[in-house]
Amino acid sequence: MYNTNIMCGIIGYCGRETAAPVVFEGLRRVEYRGYDSAGIATFNNGTLLLCKDVGKLGEIESRHHLSKMLGNTAIGHTRWATHGGVTQANAHPHCDCTSTIAVVHNGIIDNYQELRKQLSTNGHRFTSETDTEVIPHLIEEEMKNKRSLEEAVLAIAPKLKGSYAFLAMSSRDTDKIVGTRKDSPLAIGLGNGAFFAASDVLACSGIANKLIPLADTEIAVLARDSAEFYDAAGRKLTKKPTNLKTQWLDTDKQSYDYFMLKEIMEQPEALEAAVRQDKKAFTEIAMDILRAGQVIVTACGTSRYAALVGRYLFSKVGRKFCDVVMASEFHYFADSVDRNTVVLAVSQSGETADVIEGVKRARDNKAMIVSIVNRPQSQLANMSDHVIYLNCGPEQCVAATKSFLSQLAVFYLLSFSMVNSFDKAVKDIKGMKSKVAKTIEWNNERLKRLSERLKYKHDFYYIARGINFAIASEGALKLKEVSYIHAEGMPAGELKHGTLALIEQGTPVAVICPNDYTYDETMSNAMEAKSRGAYIIALSDRKNQIFDFWVKIPKVSELLYPMITVIPLQLLAYHTAVSLGKDPDKPRNLAKSVTVK
Ligand code: G6P
Repeated sequence: MYNTNIMCGIIGYCGRETAAPVVFEGLRRVEYRGYDSAGIATFNNGTLLLCKDVGKLGEIESRHHLSKMLGNTAIGHTRWATHGGVTQANAHPHCDCTSTIAVVHNGIIDNYQELRKQLSTNGHRFTSETDTEVIPHLIEEEMKNKRSLEEAVLAIAPKLKGSYAFLAMSSRDTDKIVGTRKDSPLAIGLGNGAFFAASDVLACSGIANKLIPLADTEIAVLARDSAEFYDAAGRKLTKKPTNLKTQWLDTDKQSYDYFMLKEIMEQPEALEAAVRQDKKAFTEIAMDILRAGQVIVTACGTSRYAALVGRYLFSKVGRKFCDVVMASEFHYFADSVDRNTVVLAVSQSGETADVIEGVKRARDNKAMIVSIVNRPQSQLANMSDHVIYLNCGPEQCVAATKSFLSQLAVFYLLSFSMVNSFDKAVKDIKGMKSKVAKTIEWNNERLKRLSERLKYKHDFYYIARGINFAIASEGALKLKEVSYIHAEGMPAGELKHGTLALIEQGTPVAVICPNDYTYDETMSNAMEAKSRGAYIIALSDRKNQIFDFWVKIPKVSELLYPMITVIPLQLLAYHTAVSLGKDPDKPRNLAKSVTVK
């Protein structure tokens, strides 16, 4: 038996309109959370209709016409499997024995084997290998005792160990959806005469204009004309909706072929949005960081590379050393976290399980938590003492681009706030808008042609020094993620300590060498690679005869180069993926919000 529904996106709709097209559209928006299989359940004239299959949403739609299902209440699911079969039986929604209760779930029920055994002994028949399937069967048991759907959900939730957000429907009340969560996200959206529940506000974008956050273990009961909320003890709660920011309503590719390119192109505006911050709050956070006995930054993937640039800025500008610990390793260091520690957690989604886990431990040890997030109403934001928002709007390509640039801007603002120079930092970043645009304009077409030439290479190496070292790693990560070509990024000085052995005639080596204090030394390392046959792709504002391909970048001040040098590397990765026929928005095996440890 397998856990097969670990990440995934869920959405439910109750309203006056036909539900399936709305749910289908919502699933399309959160498909980045998983795209192995998908399904929708609706009630039409009291009968449960269920359609699910393996494949991407678009493929399932053309086979089964999911969006044409009838009924005004529906739940849907899009799945990302970690292990176990990607099969139709394992796809959600899952039902009880009588096929009158349907459930979609995101998370892991750790004790599902035990529960399944008990349920099987009581005569329940299972049709999938998933942990999820215990939920409709548990609800079925409770509803046999004349309990309503919400009473049944309240009764079974304490029996579930692990993390979950799930939505349930029953033929007993076909206009109702009941949802609850624990350690997995679930937002409630309100629209015109309609209610939504979804694992990401993006799913409701364009249709909901208000949001209600649901705390851990709370229960939402959505009906056609009402939404009610209860705590785990069944006490009714009063909740105040908040407005959904308009930037979260925009989820179209517009004229772009892929979200990745659209999001790369949005970066000048993302910088402008990132500096819309409260000076006083920034200065206070900066002072807390300066006063702290130790500062630890924790993050995963691209967010961690932004943190590595931040570490450099903190040291250079604020003279404050901090450590950056990979979130999946952070909790192993929890013993040395105390009340004199400031933990900065960086996460675009604010839902990455490893980050959440580390922050929980740090909070238990009384550390101050400051988070840097993009998505509204995230778990991470809810558990932080201070939250800094990136303000760059929805990022839908699995590979992060504009959120990275926004994170760099926030680190720049924080480090200059340490020396009371918030206003200077805002001005500097605003000045970068046109430089980023210029970098794109100068290089987009040329990098497209370069990617055509290099797309069949098996290995790429990326080197840089100082503040740009993390950009070398980020450039390599981008290429790996979207084109599936092996790539490594490292400090230029490290190349000769091993990796140089891998350089052969024609191996592409991207050298990030702005005309700053690192130029001469980086050039020596590039020369060492070139002497062994490397093809040098150099990102610089100063030409050198050793370059085989010069990616010209504008001159900026030394601490701002990362905001420029990352751009051509994003473009190179994008064009390589597209010229190889890959979908850069949905790379194989990956997902945008990794809600599993
Ligand atoms: C996944 C995504 C990456 C992202 C990382 C951290 O691996 O595919 O693009 O950088 O998670 O995500 P976060 O939301 O915490 O920044």
